[in-house]
Amino acid sequence: MNYRLFIIVLLSAMSPYVMAESLYLQEMNNTLLSDQQLEKSKEKLEAHKTLEVREDLAMPPFHKRAQLKASLEYSTCTSCHLLPPHTKSERTRTFMNMHTQFIACESCHFRPKDKTLNYQWEDVRDGTRIQAKTKLFRQVTSSEEKPEERVKALHAYYKIAPLYQGETIGLRKNHPFAKESKRLWEKGTELEKIERRALIHAPLEEKGPECSACHDKNESLLDLAELGANTYQANKIYNNIIAQFFARYKDEDSRIRIMRLLK
Ligand code: HEC
Ligand code: HEC
Ligand code: HEC
Repeated sequence: MNYRLFIIVLLSAMSPYVMAESLYLQEMNNTLLSDQQLEKSKEKLEAHKTLEVREDLAMPPFHKRAQLKASLEYSTCTSCHLLPPHTKSERTRTFMNMHTQFIACESCHFRPKDKTLNYQWEDVRDGTRIQAKTKLFRQVTSSEEKPEERVKALHAYYKIAPLYQGETIGLRKNHPFAKESKRLWEKGTELEKIERRALIHAPLEEKGPECSACHDKNESLLDLAELGANTYQANKIYNNIIAQFFARYKDEDSRIRIMRLLK
């Protein structure tokens, strides 16, 4: 092999390690905050203060919820956000909080329009990727597999997380950016907090996707087969009656009709 070729081969083999960086971090690095973004951040920060008090008053979580809580501690988002994080929409918050058991925050809140992301199961404790398996989904497929066993096999530490070009999007808590954010959040000045909050949220979507983004076969944000779901499980997800209800009725007043649908 000639010398130049060797260098090229070497560099391209190394590039995933030296060059790849979370797309989320890249987007933050490319963000120039506008006055409007900063003003909005200031307002949000003031609103947040009232939420902090509520966390202290919250009831201790149930045994079952303790593990979900523990799993969410690994997300950089929960350095600031409540556990569970969704509180505002009475209509959907229970469902969105339930989804945080198996879907990482970034899967729903980081969705740049000009990029195609992939989704994989990840162990949130150390960021290792979990090989796609049927077993990772909640839906029981055969009578031999008892639900209890399945429930044990699953745990909230495994979540569906986004990747871009093979690189995980979400930052880990020990990432320098995340550590700096935490420091600013605790000890920073008011202005530093406002700026950091604005930066963190600039690439994020205020709302998550509609239910149909994942529960409608024709939209399919997630490639369920690639995540290990078999046909039975995928069909269950696509024909989820509650998600279909939400797609049909978008206003808060429609809540009551869920009961009718479930009869
Ligand atoms: C440094 C603290 C901090 C971090 C880290 C943080 N947030 Fe926030 N976030 C806030 C505050 C403060 C608000 C405004 C008040 C509220 O809703 O709690 C907010 C609001 C939001 C909102 C509502 C819409 C908006 O833009 O105001 C979403 C969605 C959100 N955050 C998602 C996330 C996600 C996802 C992550 C992790 C990738 C994250 N946040 C990380 C502090 C933070
Ligand atoms: C399955 C998709 C999904 C996941 C996963 C998800 N969210 Fe959300 N999020 C939403 C949707 C949809 C909304 C819009 C309001 C609603 O429907 O509750 C939202 C709204 C929010 C808001 C603002 C409104 C509120 O309810 O207070 C915050 C803050 C937030 N998400 C934070 C997070 C954090 C932190 C995580 C991870 C621990 C997370 N989200 C995971 C879908 C999701
Ligand atoms: C980002 C993708 C995504 C979005 C958005 C989403 N879901 Fe889901 N949802 C899933 C996946 C994946 C599963 C299957 C989890 C499993 O089987 O382990 C699921 C499962 C469910 C379940 C069954 C849970 C169980 O334990 O059997 C319900 C009910 C549900 N979703 C309702 C909703 C509703 C309502 C919305 C919108 C308000 C919504 N989903 C939005 C991905 C999503």
